[in-house]
Amino acid sequence: MNMEPRLATLADVAALAELEQASFTGDSLSARRFRHFIRSEHSELWCLGNPIQAYALVLFHRGTSLARLYSIAVDPAARGRGFGSQLLHCVEQQALRRHVLFMRLEVRQDNMAAKTLYESSGYRIIRTLKSYYEDGADGWRLEKHLKPTVAIPHDLPFYAQTTPFTCGPSALMMALHSIDPDFTMTRLEELNLWREATTIYLTTGHGGTSPQGLALAALKRGHDVTMWLSDRSIAFLDGVRSEHKRELMTLVGEDFQARCDRDGVTTDTGVHTVADLRLALAQGNRILLLISTYRLNRNKAPHWVWLVAIDDDYAYLNDPDIDEELDQVATDNMYVPVSLDNFGAMIQYGTKRYMAALLIR
Ligand SMILES: CC(C)(COP(=O)(O)OP(=O)(O)OC[C@H]1O[C@@H](n2cnc3c(N)ncnc32)[C@H](O)[C@@H]1OP(=O)(O)O)[C@@H](O)C(=O)NCCC(=O)NCCS
Repeated sequence: MNMEPRLATLADVAALAELEQASFTGDSLSARRFRHFIRSEHSELWCLGNPIQAYALVLFHRGTSLARLYSIAVDPAARGRGFGSQLLHCVEQQALRRHVLFMRLEVRQDNMAAKTLYESSGYRIIRTLKSYYEDGADGWRLEKHLKPTVAIPHDLPFYAQTTPFTCGPSALMMALHSIDPDFTMTRLEELNLWREATTIYLTTGHGGTSPQGLALAALKRGHDVTMWLSDRSIAFLDGVRSEHKRELMTLVGEDFQARCDRDGVTTDTGVHTVADLRLALAQGNRILLLISTYRLNRNKAPHWVWLVAIDDDYAYLNDPDIDEELDQVATDNMYVPVSLDNFGAMIQYGTKRYMAALLIR
Protein backbone atom coordinates (compact mmCIF):
# COMPACT_ATOMS: atom_id res chain seq x y z
CA MET A 1 0.00 0.00 0.00
CA ASN A 2 1.29 3.48 -0.90
CA MET A 3 1.69 5.34 2.40
CA GLU A 4 2.96 8.66 1.07
CA PRO A 5 0.75 11.51 2.28
CA ARG A 6 -1.40 13.05 -0.45
CA LEU A 7 -3.90 15.92 -0.65
CA ALA A 8 -7.48 14.68 -0.24
CA THR A 9 -9.94 15.10 -3.12
CA LEU A 10 -13.72 15.21 -3.19
CA ALA A 11 -13.66 11.46 -3.96
CA ASP A 12 -12.29 10.91 -0.42
CA VAL A 13 -15.15 12.62 1.40
CA ALA A 14 -17.17 9.49 2.25
CA ALA A 15 -14.11 7.70 3.64
CA LEU A 16 -13.06 10.80 5.59
CA ALA A 17 -16.53 11.13 7.13
CA GLU A 18 -16.41 7.47 8.15
CA LEU A 19 -12.96 7.85 9.73
CA GLU A 20 -14.22 10.94 11.52
CA GLN A 21 -17.19 9.08 12.99
CA ALA A 22 -14.90 6.32 14.24
CA SER A 23 -12.50 8.85 15.80
CA PHE A 24 -14.57 11.50 17.56
CA THR A 25 -17.74 11.33 19.63
CA GLY A 26 -18.66 15.04 19.79
CA ASP A 27 -17.55 17.99 17.62
CA SER A 28 -17.01 15.84 14.51
CA LEU A 29 -16.74 17.20 10.98
CA SER A 30 -19.59 16.49 8.55
CA ALA A 31 -19.17 15.43 4.91
CA ARG A 32 -20.27 18.95 3.92
CA ARG A 33 -17.49 20.52 6.00
CA PHE A 34 -14.90 18.12 4.54
CA ARG A 35 -16.00 19.19 1.05
CA HIS A 36 -15.68 22.83 2.05
CA PHE A 37 -12.14 22.36 3.41
CA ILE A 38 -11.01 20.35 0.38
CA ARG A 39 -12.18 23.14 -1.94
CA SER A 40 -10.95 26.10 0.10
CA GLU A 41 -7.68 27.84 -0.75
CA HIS A 42 -7.21 28.55 2.93
CA SER A 43 -6.99 24.97 4.09
CA GLU A 44 -5.12 21.79 3.23
CA LEU A 45 -6.43 18.35 3.94
CA TRP A 46 -3.75 15.65 3.79
CA CYS A 47 -4.43 11.95 4.03
CA LEU A 48 -2.55 8.67 4.17
CA GLY A 49 -3.39 5.36 2.52
CA ASN A 50 -5.99 4.08 0.14
CA PRO A 51 -8.39 3.25 1.73
CA ILE A 52 -7.68 6.22 3.94
CA GLN A 53 -5.95 5.38 7.23
CA ALA A 54 -5.44 8.90 8.53
CA TYR A 55 -6.02 12.55 7.77
CA ALA A 56 -4.83 15.94 8.99
CA LEU A 57 -6.53 19.27 8.29
CA VAL A 58 -4.71 22.60 8.48
CA LEU A 59 -6.30 26.06 8.17
CA PHE A 60 -4.20 29.01 7.04
CA HIS A 61 -4.82 32.49 8.37
CA ARG A 62 -4.83 34.78 5.33
CA GLY A 63 -2.24 37.56 5.16
CA THR A 64 -0.37 36.12 8.15
CA SER A 65 2.21 33.47 8.87
CA LEU A 66 -0.04 31.43 11.11
CA ALA A 67 -1.69 28.07 10.63
CA ARG A 68 -3.91 25.92 12.79
CA LEU A 69 -4.04 22.15 12.92
CA TYR A 70 -7.80 21.93 12.92
CA SER A 71 -8.06 18.16 13.15
CA ILE A 72 -6.03 14.97 12.89
CA ALA A 73 -7.25 11.40 13.14
CA VAL A 74 -5.96 7.90 12.50
CA ASP A 75 -8.21 4.90 11.89
CA PRO A 76 -8.61 3.05 15.22
CA ALA A 77 -7.19 -0.14 13.69
CA ALA A 78 -4.06 1.70 12.47
CA ARG A 79 -3.13 3.67 15.59
CA GLY A 80 0.19 3.42 17.37
CA ARG A 81 2.12 2.75 14.16
CA GLY A 82 3.50 6.22 13.62
CA PHE A 83 0.91 7.43 11.07
CA GLY A 84 -0.14 10.34 13.28
CA SER A 85 3.46 11.52 13.63
CA GLN A 86 4.13 11.05 9.91
CA LEU A 87 1.12 13.11 8.89
CA LEU A 88 1.84 15.83 11.43
CA HIS A 89 5.39 16.15 10.11
CA CYS A 90 4.02 16.31 6.56
CA VAL A 91 1.56 19.14 7.26
CA GLU A 92 4.25 21.11 9.09
CA GLN A 93 6.58 20.84 6.10
CA GLN A 94 3.79 21.93 3.76
CA ALA A 95 2.98 24.86 6.05
CA LEU A 96 6.63 25.94 6.02
CA ARG A 97 6.44 26.03 2.23
CA ARG A 98 3.66 28.58 2.65
CA HIS A 99 5.99 30.58 4.95
CA VAL A 100 4.01 29.67 8.04
CA LEU A 101 5.86 30.40 11.23
CA PHE A 102 3.60 28.97 13.92
CA MET A 103 1.34 25.95 13.98
CA ARG A 104 -1.26 26.13 16.71
CA LEU A 105 -3.91 23.68 17.90
CA GLU A 106 -6.24 22.79 20.75
CA VAL A 107 -6.42 19.45 22.51
CA ARG A 108 -8.58 17.98 25.27
CA GLN A 109 -6.68 17.50 28.50
CA ASP A 110 -7.99 13.92 28.72
CA ASN A 111 -6.73 12.99 25.23
CA MET A 112 -3.47 11.28 26.21
CA ALA A 113 -2.73 9.86 22.78
CA ALA A 114 -3.00 13.23 21.06
CA LYS A 115 -1.14 15.05 23.83
CA THR A 116 1.74 12.58 23.57
CA LEU A 117 1.78 12.90 19.79
CA TYR A 118 1.99 16.70 19.97
CA GLU A 119 4.53 16.86 22.77
CA SER A 120 6.82 14.36 21.13
CA SER A 121 6.56 16.44 17.94
CA GLY A 122 7.73 19.59 19.75
CA TYR A 123 4.49 21.37 20.62
CA ARG A 124 4.24 23.19 23.92
CA ILE A 125 1.30 24.41 25.97
CA ILE A 126 0.68 28.13 25.60
CA ARG A 127 -2.67 28.33 27.39
CA THR A 128 -5.07 26.36 29.56
CA LEU A 129 -8.64 26.39 28.25
CA LYS A 130 -11.19 25.94 31.04
CA SER A 131 -14.44 24.17 30.00
CA TYR A 132 -13.47 24.62 26.37
CA TYR A 133 -15.31 21.66 24.90
CA GLU A 134 -19.02 21.04 24.34
CA ASP A 135 -19.18 18.58 27.25
CA GLY A 136 -17.39 20.99 29.60
CA ALA A 137 -13.98 19.28 29.35
CA ASP A 138 -10.85 21.42 29.76
CA GLY A 139 -8.36 21.83 26.97
CA TRP A 140 -4.91 23.13 26.20
CA ARG A 141 -3.76 25.36 23.41
CA LEU A 142 -0.46 24.20 22.00
CA GLU A 143 1.96 25.77 19.62
CA LYS A 144 5.02 24.81 17.66
CA HIS A 145 7.37 27.33 16.25
CA LEU A 146 8.18 25.85 12.87
CA LYS A 147 11.23 28.12 12.60
CA PRO A 148 12.24 28.66 16.18
CA THR A 149 13.69 32.15 16.33
CA VAL A 150 11.29 34.20 18.42
CA ALA A 151 10.38 34.06 22.09
CA ILE A 152 6.63 34.31 22.57
CA PRO A 153 5.45 36.23 25.60
CA HIS A 154 3.69 34.16 28.24
CA ASP A 155 0.27 35.26 29.50
CA LEU A 156 -0.26 37.65 26.65
CA PRO A 157 -3.68 39.24 27.30
CA PHE A 158 -6.33 38.70 24.66
CA TYR A 159 -9.82 40.12 24.34
CA ALA A 160 -12.17 39.38 21.44
CA GLN A 161 -14.35 42.32 20.44
CA THR A 162 -18.03 41.56 21.01
CA THR A 163 -19.45 44.00 18.44
CA PRO A 164 -18.36 44.78 14.87
CA PHE A 165 -17.44 48.36 15.84
CA THR A 166 -15.38 47.88 19.03
CA CYS A 167 -11.99 46.79 17.66
CA GLY A 168 -10.40 49.99 19.01
CA PRO A 169 -11.69 49.59 22.57
CA SER A 170 -10.80 45.88 22.57
CA ALA A 171 -7.26 46.49 21.34
CA LEU A 172 -6.89 49.29 23.88
CA MET A 173 -8.08 47.06 26.72
CA MET A 174 -5.44 44.43 25.87
CA ALA A 175 -2.71 47.07 25.80
CA LEU A 176 -3.84 48.65 29.09
CA HIS A 177 -4.14 45.25 30.77
CA SER A 178 -0.59 44.43 29.70
CA ILE A 179 0.60 47.62 31.44
CA ASP A 180 -1.58 47.15 34.53
CA PRO A 181 -2.90 43.64 35.29
CA ASP A 182 -5.47 45.20 37.66
CA PHE A 183 -7.14 46.82 34.68
CA THR A 184 -9.91 44.37 33.86
CA MET A 185 -11.12 43.71 30.35
CA THR A 186 -14.91 43.62 30.52
CA ARG A 187 -17.71 44.06 28.05
CA LEU A 188 -18.91 47.13 29.91
CA GLU A 189 -15.46 48.71 29.65
CA GLU A 190 -15.40 47.80 25.94
CA LEU A 191 -18.67 49.70 25.46
CA ASN A 192 -17.68 52.60 27.70
CA LEU A 193 -14.46 53.07 25.77
CA TRP A 194 -16.40 52.99 22.51
CA ARG A 195 -18.83 55.60 23.77
CA GLU A 196 -15.90 57.83 24.71
CA ALA A 197 -14.01 57.38 21.45
CA THR A 198 -16.51 56.84 18.63
CA THR A 199 -16.58 58.88 15.43
CA ILE A 200 -20.39 58.33 15.46
CA TYR A 201 -20.46 57.26 11.81
CA LEU A 202 -18.31 55.23 9.50
CA THR A 203 -19.05 54.37 5.87
CA THR A 204 -21.83 52.04 6.95
CA GLY A 205 -23.30 51.11 10.30
CA HIS A 206 -21.97 52.36 13.59
CA GLY A 207 -18.89 54.50 13.78
CA GLY A 208 -15.61 53.02 14.88
CA THR A 209 -13.17 54.76 17.15
CA SER A 210 -10.73 57.43 16.06
CA PRO A 211 -7.10 57.77 17.12
CA GLN A 212 -7.93 60.94 19.03
CA GLY A 213 -10.92 59.37 20.77
CA LEU A 214 -8.88 56.36 21.89
CA ALA A 215 -5.98 58.58 22.91
CA LEU A 216 -8.28 60.61 25.18
CA ALA A 217 -9.74 57.44 26.67
CA ALA A 218 -6.24 56.12 27.49
CA LEU A 219 -5.24 59.52 28.90
CA LYS A 220 -8.31 59.55 31.13
CA ARG A 221 -7.19 56.18 32.53
CA GLY A 222 -3.90 57.66 33.64
CA HIS A 223 -1.54 56.90 30.73
CA ASP A 224 0.76 59.09 28.69
CA VAL A 225 -0.22 59.01 25.04
CA THR A 226 1.53 60.06 21.86
CA MET A 227 -0.29 59.90 18.53
CA TRP A 228 1.59 59.24 15.33
CA LEU A 229 -0.52 60.41 12.42
CA SER A 230 0.34 60.75 8.77
CA ASP A 231 -1.53 64.08 8.83
CA ARG A 232 -4.12 65.95 10.85
CA SER A 233 -7.05 65.18 8.57
CA ILE A 234 -10.16 63.75 10.16
CA ALA A 235 -10.01 59.98 10.14
CA PHE A 236 -12.39 57.95 7.96
CA LEU A 237 -14.12 60.91 6.26
CA ASP A 238 -13.08 59.51 2.88
CA GLY A 239 -15.73 57.28 1.52
CA VAL A 240 -18.51 58.85 3.58
CA ARG A 241 -20.87 60.25 0.99
CA SER A 242 -23.69 61.67 3.09
CA GLU A 243 -23.11 65.35 3.77
CA HIS A 244 -24.97 65.06 7.06
CA LYS A 245 -22.68 62.25 8.28
CA ARG A 246 -19.60 64.18 7.16
CA GLU A 247 -20.73 67.24 9.10
CA LEU A 248 -21.18 65.27 12.31
CA MET A 249 -17.91 63.40 11.89
CA THR A 250 -16.07 66.66 11.28
CA LEU A 251 -17.59 68.23 14.38
CA VAL A 252 -16.60 65.23 16.51
CA GLY A 253 -13.15 64.92 14.88
CA GLU A 254 -12.26 68.58 15.42
CA ASP A 255 -13.42 68.45 19.01
CA PHE A 256 -11.36 65.29 19.68
CA GLN A 257 -8.22 66.87 18.23
CA ALA A 258 -8.77 70.10 20.17
CA ARG A 259 -9.16 68.13 23.40
CA CYS A 260 -6.02 66.11 22.65
CA ASP A 261 -4.08 69.35 22.12
CA ARG A 262 -5.53 70.89 25.27
CA ASP A 263 -5.19 67.88 27.58
CA GLY A 264 -1.64 66.86 26.71
CA VAL A 265 -1.80 64.11 24.09
CA THR A 266 1.22 64.69 21.87
CA THR A 267 0.35 64.65 18.16
CA ASP A 268 3.29 63.86 15.94
CA THR A 269 2.49 64.08 12.22
CA GLY A 270 4.55 62.90 9.27
CA VAL A 271 5.99 59.66 8.00
CA HIS A 272 6.53 56.90 10.55
CA THR A 273 8.16 53.70 9.44
CA VAL A 274 8.27 50.12 10.63
CA ALA A 275 11.70 50.90 12.09
CA ASP A 276 10.17 53.76 14.11
CA LEU A 277 7.50 51.41 15.45
CA ARG A 278 10.14 48.83 16.40
CA LEU A 279 12.10 51.46 18.31
CA ALA A 280 8.98 52.69 20.11
CA LEU A 281 8.24 49.13 21.21
CA ALA A 282 11.80 48.71 22.45
CA GLN A 283 11.33 51.88 24.50
CA GLY A 284 8.47 50.21 26.35
CA ASN A 285 5.48 51.76 24.62
CA ARG A 286 2.31 49.78 24.03
CA ILE A 287 1.22 50.45 20.46
CA LEU A 288 -2.26 50.50 19.04
CA LEU A 289 -2.27 50.48 15.27
CA LEU A 290 -4.83 51.25 12.66
CA ILE A 291 -4.56 48.71 9.85
CA SER A 292 -6.36 48.07 6.63
CA THR A 293 -7.78 44.55 6.80
CA TYR A 294 -7.51 44.12 3.04
CA ARG A 295 -4.61 41.71 3.27
CA LEU A 296 -6.28 39.70 5.99
CA ASN A 297 -9.80 39.31 4.66
CA ARG A 298 -10.08 41.35 1.46
CA ASN A 299 -12.29 43.92 3.21
CA LYS A 300 -10.88 47.39 2.97
CA ALA A 301 -12.05 48.25 6.46
CA PRO A 302 -10.08 50.32 8.97
CA HIS A 303 -9.31 48.15 11.94
CA TRP A 304 -7.49 48.58 15.27
CA VAL A 305 -5.04 45.99 16.54
CA TRP A 306 -2.47 45.84 19.32
CA LEU A 307 1.04 45.63 17.90
CA VAL A 308 2.80 43.34 20.36
CA ALA A 309 6.25 42.96 18.84
CA ILE A 310 8.40 43.36 15.73
CA ASP A 311 11.49 41.31 14.90
CA ASP A 312 13.68 41.13 11.79
CA ASP A 313 11.07 39.29 9.72
CA TYR A 314 7.66 39.73 11.27
CA ALA A 315 5.34 42.04 13.13
CA TYR A 316 3.14 40.30 15.72
CA LEU A 317 -0.41 41.48 16.25
CA ASN A 318 -3.16 40.77 18.73
CA ASP A 319 -6.22 41.16 16.55
CA PRO A 320 -9.50 41.40 18.52
CA ASP A 321 -11.67 40.45 15.54
CA ILE A 322 -12.34 36.72 15.53
CA ASP A 323 -14.05 35.55 12.35
CA GLU A 324 -16.22 32.61 13.35
CA GLU A 325 -17.21 31.95 9.75
CA LEU A 326 -13.56 31.13 9.10
CA ASP A 327 -13.58 28.88 12.17
CA GLN A 328 -11.19 31.23 13.92
CA VAL A 329 -10.65 31.03 17.66
CA ALA A 330 -8.54 33.22 19.94
CA THR A 331 -5.46 31.17 18.96
CA ASP A 332 -5.68 32.49 15.43
CA ASN A 333 -5.72 36.08 16.57
CA MET A 334 -3.02 36.17 19.25
CA TYR A 335 0.56 37.07 18.45
CA VAL A 336 -0.25 36.80 14.76
CA PRO A 337 2.96 36.97 12.73
CA VAL A 338 2.71 39.16 9.64
CA SER A 339 5.68 39.36 7.29
CA LEU A 340 7.15 42.86 7.28
CA ASP A 341 6.24 43.31 3.59
CA ASN A 342 2.60 42.69 4.30
CA PHE A 343 2.79 44.71 7.48
CA GLY A 344 4.25 47.78 5.76
CA ALA A 345 1.29 47.79 3.36
CA MET A 346 -1.24 47.06 6.08
CA ILE A 347 -0.46 50.15 8.16
CA GLN A 348 -1.43 52.54 5.38
CA TYR A 349 -5.17 52.93 5.19
CA GLY A 350 -7.02 53.88 2.03
CA THR A 351 -5.88 55.73 -1.08
CA LYS A 352 -4.46 58.58 1.01
CA ARG A 353 -2.37 56.03 2.95
CA TYR A 354 -3.54 57.34 6.27
CA MET A 355 -1.45 56.04 9.13
CA ALA A 356 -2.37 56.18 12.81
CA ALA A 357 -0.62 54.69 15.82
CA LEU A 358 -1.06 55.36 19.52
CA LEU A 359 1.97 55.04 21.77
CA ILE A 360 0.83 54.43 25.33
CA ARG A 361 2.97 54.35 28.46
C1 LIG B 1 -4.06 11.12 18.34
C2 LIG B 1 -3.84 10.16 17.19
C3 LIG B 1 -4.02 10.96 15.89
C4 LIG B 1 -2.42 9.60 17.27
O1 LIG B 1 -2.15 8.89 16.06
P1 LIG B 1 -1.18 7.59 16.05
O2 LIG B 1 -0.91 7.28 14.63
O3 LIG B 1 -1.78 6.55 16.88
O4 LIG B 1 0.11 8.16 16.77
P2 LIG B 1 1.61 7.67 16.53
O5 LIG B 1 1.62 6.20 16.37
O6 LIG B 1 2.23 8.48 15.46
O7 LIG B 1 2.24 8.05 17.94
C5 LIG B 1 2.69 9.35 18.24
C6 LIG B 1 3.14 9.42 19.68
O8 LIG B 1 1.99 9.30 20.54
C7 LIG B 1 2.14 8.17 21.41
N1 LIG B 1 0.82 7.54 21.54
C8 LIG B 1 0.03 7.08 20.55
N2 LIG B 1 -1.08 6.57 21.08
C9 LIG B 1 -0.98 6.71 22.43
C10 LIG B 1 -1.84 6.38 23.52
N3 LIG B 1 -3.02 5.80 23.32
N4 LIG B 1 -1.43 6.72 24.76
C11 LIG B 1 -0.25 7.32 24.97
N5 LIG B 1 0.60 7.65 23.97
C12 LIG B 1 0.23 7.34 22.72
C13 LIG B 1 3.11 7.27 20.72
O9 LIG B 1 3.79 6.44 21.65
C14 LIG B 1 4.05 8.25 20.09
O10 LIG B 1 4.91 8.78 21.07
P3 LIG B 1 6.50 8.84 20.86
O11 LIG B 1 6.70 9.67 19.59
O12 LIG B 1 6.98 9.53 22.08
O13 LIG B 1 6.90 7.44 20.69
C15 LIG B 1 -4.84 8.97 17.24
O14 LIG B 1 -4.78 8.40 18.51
C16 LIG B 1 -6.28 9.35 16.95
O15 LIG B 1 -6.72 9.37 15.79
N6 LIG B 1 -7.08 9.64 17.99
C17 LIG B 1 -8.48 10.01 17.83
C18 LIG B 1 -8.64 11.36 17.20
C19 LIG B 1 -7.98 12.45 18.03
O16 LIG B 1 -8.07 12.45 19.25
N7 LIG B 1 -7.33 13.40 17.35
C20 LIG B 1 -6.63 14.49 17.98
C21 LIG B 1 -7.55 15.61 18.27
S1 LIG B 1 -6.72 16.93 19.09
